[in-house]
Amino acid sequence: MDIEELNDTNCKTYLLAHGHDAILVDPVRERLDTYRRLLDQRGLQLAMVLETHTHADHLMLNRDAKEILRAPFVMHTESPSPLIDRHLQDGDVLELGSARIEVLHTPGHTPDSLCLVMPGAVLTGDTLHIGGSGRCDFPGGDAGQQYDAVTQRLFALPDDTVVYPGHDYKGKTTSTIGAEKHGNPRFLDKSRDEYISLMGSLGLPFPDKIQQALQVNQTGFEESDVAFPGVHDIAAIEGLTASEVAERLSSAAPPLIVDVREPEEFVSELGHIEGALLVPMDALARRLPKLAGYVDREVIVVCRAGARSASAGAILRRAGFRYVRSLQGGMLAWAASTLPVMR
Ligand SMILES: [Fe+2]
Repeated sequence: MDIEELNDTNCKTYLLAHGHDAILVDPVRERLDTYRRLLDQRGLQLAMVLETHTHADHLMLNRDAKEILRAPFVMHTESPSPLIDRHLQDGDVLELGSARIEVLHTPGHTPDSLCLVMPGAVLTGDTLHIGGSGRCDFPGGDAGQQYDAVTQRLFALPDDTVVYPGHDYKGKTTSTIGAEKHGNPRFLDKSRDEYISLMGSLGLPFPDKIQQALQVNQTGFEESDVAFPGVHDIAAIEGLTASEVAERLSSAAPPLIVDVREPEEFVSELGHIEGALLVPMDALARRLPKLAGYVDREVIVVCRAGARSASAGAILRRAGFRYVRSLQGGMLAWAASTLPVMR
């Protein structure tokens, strides 16, 4: 299999090619025309567009961009975007021509981070960088999970496996598992607790613009008639577990469930909570007047993975709704608790 980095910047996009079949990994939206031309010139057939995680530093595909590439959009099952055509899980195997690519779920940088293992090589996304690792301080990040993923999953690969990271800020291109295992200062001689405290003390700036990209990528639509809330407003929305939501629903004064997914997700295999009101994220601002009767009652916002609902909750809070909560982990968590759904 050929592995080629296409951007030549610190933010990396990879083209995996085997014969005439290709997979584009982590494309940057502004460069889509370049990728399209390259595929055409080489006569490559794009089997899928795959994201290693929900990115915070660049725009992923929206509906228009998906049209340009004309290939299924593939991400981990915990990825919040409603534009995903195929959800991946740990252990899934992708076939590219006769080549096999194994999916490792490696949460930490984000809940939906994954690495792609192929013979002699691994694409590590923002899980493992050359001499570093992806930050864990965005919502849903977890340094402990990242430590486990790197030390137990990635470092278990053969030492000569070539590492292709999602970012590099020093102009480097590749490393090996052996070199990282024996030389990456983030992990070398570090216990799990030491890693967690190291990652918690990085003090990286948290720019609002990055949060904007994250929210566009989570919701799949551009900021249009609704201004996205800031990260602190989102963090202020209380999350409830699936069983807490179920309990409140059977109380004497049940809350209103507002499901902010897309209509096709509402009736998909995950289904929806009985009585839920469907208000897709991009229609939320328009539909606020219809929800006016609920400003002083409890509203619980629901989505697929819990990211869009936190954003939508902050939008409702800003609009004056006083008791807004979000279903933690979304309908994925609801389904994992085997609570009843409607389809
Ligand atoms: Fe990232």
